[in-house]
Amino acid sequence: MHVRILLVLVSCALSVITGLVIARGGVGVTAARQRPLIGLSMDTLKEERWQIDRDLFTAAAQAAGADVLVQSANSNDVVQLQNIESLITQKVDVLVIIPKDAAAMAKGVELAHQAGIPVLSYDRLITGCDLDLYLTFDNVKVGELQAKFLADRIPQSGKLRLIRIYGAKTDNNAKLFKQGQDNILQPLIAAGKVEVIFEDWAEDWKPENAKKITNAAITKIGPNFDAILASNDGTAGGAIQALTEEGLAGKIIVTGQDADLAACQRIAQGTQAMTVYKPIQSIATKAADLALKLARRQPIVARDAVSNGKTDVPSVLLEITSVTKENLRDTVIKDGFRKESDVFQ
Ligand code: GAL
Repeated sequence: MHVRILLVLVSCALSVITGLVIARGGVGVTAARQRPLIGLSMDTLKEERWQIDRDLFTAAAQAAGADVLVQSANSNDVVQLQNIESLITQKVDVLVIIPKDAAAMAKGVELAHQAGIPVLSYDRLITGCDLDLYLTFDNVKVGELQAKFLADRIPQSGKLRLIRIYGAKTDNNAKLFKQGQDNILQPLIAAGKVEVIFEDWAEDWKPENAKKITNAAITKIGPNFDAILASNDGTAGGAIQALTEEGLAGKIIVTGQDADLAACQRIAQGTQAMTVYKPIQSIATKAADLALKLARRQPIVARDAVSNGKTDVPSVLLEITSVTKENLRDTVIKDGFRKESDVFQ
């Protein structure tokens, strides 16, 4: 009996996703083309991780029989919408978007649907629109791992004095990371075991903005704090620059995310305490597979759904790992994401 119910549910889910995409019109891979054409619209290529995403995604898509057009908006919303319009004009069969601004790119999804083109939101969610598919890592868990790392290191004094550096307010992920951090920190703050003595959002995730936040914190409170909860490695790098200027680098616990090479080196040296490894090979390969299925109007199994304020978007959430000095070799190096010689140079 149970198996039959399950089968009915799965086939319903399958049909729903396929039905939705087909209902948007368009017959899939433009008849004239042998290979599907994928449009990849990126927020920026400034950060190391996005360059890796671009290269691994393009390689995976080409290996799977597709061609890829890449456009980067250099962190400018207007440019990103223009990029999307130009990819639509070039009649791509599917759009993969890494939005700079979650809300602003809803317009891009609407334009794509008017042209019968399905949209996959890559790593970051596009809000307020009928998005077809969302692929990302478990972003709330990212924040939980970062905060848990600090919770396990509350000093003898019984209180951890904390500076919090959030990501870009325009990035839905930054809110999910904060939510995960809050899940762990709120009870500790209520119990007086953690005190947030300074906090701010780093505009556009820029390291220089994280440095400014840390400088402002030190100006206000002096060196009297124990940790910086930086939401990614770029902002951690900016914060550690400010700590270095004050002779505090290595004395303050600093978190991160992305396993950037510079961050792995800092962890080996001891100026950064941890990062969160999100295997880009897995999201890039999965994205290529899903994009091709969308382009060919093939059924897709998405076990999760994430609300984007307009609809519950069929979603695929990928696993992550906390990385410290102790497991650098068993994680990012073992995976081939980082070379031992580069990390321990
Ligand atoms: C987030 C992404 C992180 C981080 C950040 C800055 O959306 O999930 O990995 O790199 O953007 O680009």
